[in-house]
Amino acid sequence: MGKYDFNTIIDRSHSDAIKYCELNKWFDADNLLPMWIADMDFCVCPEITEALQRRISHRIYGYASTPDEFFPTIADWLRRRHGFETSPEEMTYIPGIVKGIGFVINRFCKPGDKIVIQPPVYHPFRRLIEGNGCKALDNPLLRLEDTYEMDLDGLEEIIRREHPRMMILCNPHNPIGIQWSRETLARVADICAEEGVIVVSDEIHGDLMLGGMPHIPYLSVSDNARRTGIMLGAPSKTFNVPGLVSSWCVIKDEAMRRNFFEWLECNEFNAPTCFATIGTIAAYNHGEEWLGEALGYIQDNIDYVADELDRISSGRIRVYRPQASFLIWLDCRGLGLSHEQLTDFFVKDAKLALNDGAMFGAEGTGFMRMNVATPRSVIDESLRRIAHALEHCPEKATV
Ligand SMILES: Cc1ncc(COP(=O)(O)O)c(C=O)c1O
Repeated sequence: MGKYDFNTIIDRSHSDAIKYCELNKWFDADNLLPMWIADMDFCVCPEITEALQRRISHRIYGYASTPDEFFPTIADWLRRRHGFETSPEEMTYIPGIVKGIGFVINRFCKPGDKIVIQPPVYHPFRRLIEGNGCKALDNPLLRLEDTYEMDLDGLEEIIRREHPRMMILCNPHNPIGIQWSRETLARVADICAEEGVIVVSDEIHGDLMLGGMPHIPYLSVSDNARRTGIMLGAPSKTFNVPGLVSSWCVIKDEAMRRNFFEWLECNEFNAPTCFATIGTIAAYNHGEEWLGEALGYIQDNIDYVADELDRISSGRIRVYRPQASFLIWLDCRGLGLSHEQLTDFFVKDAKLALNDGAMFGAEGTGFMRMNVATPRSVIDESLRRIAHALEHCPEKATV
């Protein structure tokens, strides 16, 4: 029995949670069980709530300065958790990772510039690139039996041929949950440094390490990485606080750092709200034990879902077990459904709101993404619904 409760179902339906309140906007069915957007259904560690409550009870919310301990606290966390050395001078606040990538694109790219992504990958990357007038260059991951790997030769080839300005690296890689190895990241850095490509490393899932896999911060792998890299991270996924809107950016290269940080400063994009800093400091200083227990609970859910799905689908739905985070990538091609039939199967027959794999790129056709950071009883209900849908759709289930 742990110290924290991950089993109680908390009603989120009246808390403006996108996961619950926007179901009707995104899915064409009622009474869906939401297992899509990537936040957790768990209460945060009590010290975060207590710190925020102390500030709220003051009753004046004027312009807030950034507390002195904000950046040292983040730097301490990165040292403790990942053995990564940085200092407050190398860091800035940013109001979210997607916004941070958008800022980087706006600062360092001009319309028409090319930016490499590696689908299937977190879908806003493509929208950020195209919405800012740039061109996405796809270097798809290579799918193996139980995992995916980066196509490093493909990356080298596409970079030499197309001369992109930037690459967006997803480290760990959502939606599959891959922790890239030091060797892979070092090769990315060598390839990109040689051609002068800036690497934006999105490490929002980095703290959610599973199965003993370490997280390797991009900027830790080599001098080439430190020359090319902009690293973005946050307490948001780690401690289930994305609504506080607190993220950070580390740049080691002085010229690139000055260029970006001064631009953020003159636009005041680097100015956090008081709640962002208070929640972040409390999370990094007091949340480690909570995080350990949450990850244990999530790992158990992953193992349980993988085994149960294998059993109830007779091996036709396969789980790619993540090395990080609480999202699992379901290979549903064994069901023999078209992609439209597959999304209908989950939404209309099983009454589950999952992320459609194709939203992460055409390479996700036949796949779905399921969020398992939820109480075990919700997982049980989702499995019951899938089993029921499989039973009642024998023509779909017997291909
Ligand atoms: C890889 C990745 N980057 C960024 C985000 C979103 O970050 P933010 O809410 O800070 O923009 C997510 C959320 O799921 C994500 O998976």
